[in-house]
Amino acid sequence: MFTATPPRKIEDNIPDDLFSAIADLKQELNAVILAHYYQEDDIQDIADYIGDSLGLSQQAASTSADVILFAGVHFMAETAKILNPHKLVLLPDLEAGCSLADSCPPDDFAIFKAKYPDHIVISYINCTAEIKALSDIICTSSNAVKIVNQIPQDQPIIFAPDKNLGRYVIEQTGRDLVLWDGSCIVHESFSEKRIIELKIQNPEAEILAHPECETPVLRHADFIGSTTALLKYSQTSSSKQFIIATEPGIIHQMEKQTPDKLFIKAPSTTNCNCNECPYMRLNTLEKVYFALKNKTPEIIIPEETRIKAFTPIQRMLEMSKN
Ligand code: 13P
Ligand code: SF4
Repeated sequence: MFTATPPRKIEDNIPDDLFSAIADLKQELNAVILAHYYQEDDIQDIADYIGDSLGLSQQAASTSADVILFAGVHFMAETAKILNPHKLVLLPDLEAGCSLADSCPPDDFAIFKAKYPDHIVISYINCTAEIKALSDIICTSSNAVKIVNQIPQDQPIIFAPDKNLGRYVIEQTGRDLVLWDGSCIVHESFSEKRIIELKIQNPEAEILAHPECETPVLRHADFIGSTTALLKYSQTSSSKQFIIATEPGIIHQMEKQTPDKLFIKAPSTTNCNCNECPYMRLNTLEKVYFALKNKTPEIIIPEETRIKAFTPIQRMLEMSKN
């Protein structure tokens, strides 16, 4: 029996040249594409700005574009929306979440916070708008130490949600932080044993690690920093080889900046691709195109939550200037 071909959905009409189709839509909408280093290479290549969480927030705070296409995960796009309530903020895939943000449910955190009434809350930006609304100051991996160092010594602090970054900040500042028990599945996947084996095979290589990694991995690092800091270090170091203990999307920029250097992905505990962030990788060039074309999926935040979440982000942006 003859069966008619079902009509093609509009989403099937993918242009042959996605790069120029995205450029046209960007111009039409006066849109800016902000991308995190963990995005796939093609998305990084069409972005107007690529950066770490602090750089992306600063760009979001200062852009004159009418539309922000955020090529990253939900909490990042949410931060852009908190800073720009009147702009259209698009996230190519709304499912692009974050295990760290998920590890801190707002109701549980409110109960935890109530146990420490004298403490202020400093939250890592990798958290939901609801957690930001329960916080006093936001920080990122690039300014966490700097921000904690600006808090008077006698002021007790809760640090949420990343216990690994929290431990690193305790070590760097000598402060006694109360930590929420959250973590990132990607940065906890690295194997200390296999990194040591890799280092033995590549004795000239420097180990660069993100502070979301666990302490046993961090203690082997030659340099610890945010993604932007790791990228800068790889450019200025005289070393020619590096073992990269963070999401390997950053290697695209490292190779572009210094093509003569060798960048090796730090291994996970199993032979999986667990060091690739499954949330970041949900975004694709096709989804970027359709988000701009259809002006959806859009980030929407209840205004009451947005207003409460705005102040601690604004404090972070101010304190980062000091
Ligand atoms: P940074 O880019 O701020 O270093 O953060 C890394 C990260 O895990 C983002 O989710
Ligand atoms: Fe979240 Fe970790 Fe992915 Fe960053 S790498 S977005 S912290 S799950």
